[in-house]
Amino acid sequence: MNLEDLREVVLTRRNIKVFKPDPVDESLVLSLMEIAKFAPNHRMTQPWHIVFIGPETRRQLNHKADFGGAPLVVAILSEGAAKDEDRVEQIVATSCFIQNFLLLAHTVGLGARWTSIGAQPQNRALLGVPEGYDVLGILGIGYAAEVPHAKDRTPIADKVRHMP
Ligand SMILES: Cc1cc2nc3c(=O)[nH]c(=O)nc-3n(C[C@H](O)[C@H](O)[C@H](O)COP(=O)(O)O)c2cc1C
Repeated sequence: MNLEDLREVVLTRRNIKVFKPDPVDESLVLSLMEIAKFAPNHRMTQPWHIVFIGPETRRQLNHKADFGGAPLVVAILSEGAAKDEDRVEQIVATSCFIQNFLLLAHTVGLGARWTSIGAQPQNRALLGVPEGYDVLGILGIGYAAEVPHAKDRTPIADKVRHMP
């Protein structure tokens, strides 16, 4: 393993706004998710679910920028839980899965546009999201037509405190 390579992957991943029309194989995305699934998850709940969005559903989602023209659109759902604190853990685990996927996708030249529109009640209904499940994102996936500049981040030192 090489820290420099991983650092490069983390630092150069961007939320992509505009995609080339070049198609992306669903099988490529699935093969990356087969790796991403080794994300941390408490009690091996593996709470992530993936919904590939077809053209009809995509039209009905009516995203303002049509996911930047991404050739593939995928919703990522996180299973619910009986207790609130367990539901939070599910969301955290699914978020780890998503970040794994985003970084893996980036290493093969793919980008993603993360949108939050899946949380809207009409979109939950459209996607048939079960009660208690969370829609963590609807991702447009494809090859970037433009790569935005990285936005500055707050120094970690400003986010750290020490306990006695
Ligand atoms: C939970 C979550 C929801 C997001 N929802 C949106 C969104 O609805 N629209 C959007 O443009 N970006 C969305 N983003 C992407 C962020 O805007 C983006 O990651 C941030 O601006 C930093 O840019 P970068 O990812 O290129 O470093 C979301 C990111 C997360 C983690």
